[in-house]
Amino acid sequence: MLRQALLAVSKSERAERVISTSRLTADVVRRYVADDVGAVIGELTRKGLLVTVDHLGEEVTEQAQAEAAVAEYLRLLGLLPAGADVSVKLTALGLRLSEGLALDHAAAICRAAAARDVTVTLDAEEHDTISGLHSVHTALRGDHPDVGVVVQAYLPEALERCESLAGARVRLCKGAYTAPGAYTRPADIDRSFVRCLRILMAGTAYPMVATHDPRMVRIASTLAVLEGRDVTGYEHQMLYGVRPDEQLRLAGQGARMRVYVPYGSDWYAYLMRRLAERPRNLAFFLRSLLSR
Ligand code: FDA
Repeated sequence: MLRQALLAVSKSERAERVISTSRLTADVVRRYVADDVGAVIGELTRKGLLVTVDHLGEEVTEQAQAEAAVAEYLRLLGLLPAGADVSVKLTALGLRLSEGLALDHAAAICRAAAARDVTVTLDAEEHDTISGLHSVHTALRGDHPDVGVVVQAYLPEALERCESLAGARVRLCKGAYTAPGAYTRPADIDRSFVRCLRILMAGTAYPMVATHDPRMVRIASTLAVLEGRDVTGYEHQMLYGVRPDEQLRLAGQGARMRVYVPYGSDWYAYLMRRLAERPRNLAFFLRSLLSR
């Protein structure tokens, strides 16, 4: 119930105006969103962590906004070390305006990224964008075979999707939105996550295991061993600000550990999804409001 309410609030322009313009939310934002992205990338890299960087913004309604997002990604690429990744939301690149526009914009980012030895991964968003996401991903793979895509385990079609992504870089996550017909019970989502993991680990995809759930992390590492994958054959991924000690522990064990680093002023919807994931975060958020 609380999760649904927060996800509804994440789409409310009125709530966004109130919360975004409040200076009181600064502490919570700083926990999840990089203030100085160059400094954060430098710090994480020095600690042996890999990064995927997301310029915040989504659901743009004008072509000029989509072009501005592309320009920002091209600027960002100049800050990134080889081996980094950028995470891109197609609705920030104009998917709601036209699939062709989003494809052209994503292709421009992929070309610039390839020149810097940086990969691109396409985030999965609301359920009505998923078919556009996969058709853009398929089109991009022709020229950019290493472009990655996110699969949300809460969608019943996730398993079939994983089977169809042989050879691709696939980031598997539980799913942060709501979708008709999606699994909602944690046990069902976890079961789907593990089924997807089995397919990815046994096949030719490069699995990117995007979860903070200790059980899922353990299962992923075990399946990788069972399938004969060494530490370069898959990676763990977690969000900036979530379980930072575990990120360091996994990297310290020699695992490839990539941190998803969001930055930029358009943080509202992203932050609301993080609050929806964990009720305790809401208490932290409210405490920080009250303590001012
Ligand atoms: P779960 O929600 O079960 O959490 C397990 C444990 O992790 C919790 O008990 C808590 O300890 C910790 N935790 C989880 N979330 C936390 C939070 N916000 N704050 C503090 N602690 C937290 N989703 C999507 O729909 N499309 C996408 O493209 C992506 N991309 C993406 C990239 C990466 C790198 C990650 C890690 C996640 C995503 N997600 C996503 C989000 C994902 O779908 C999911 O909502 C969150 O990762 C939370 O689910 P967990 O798997 O961590 O498990």
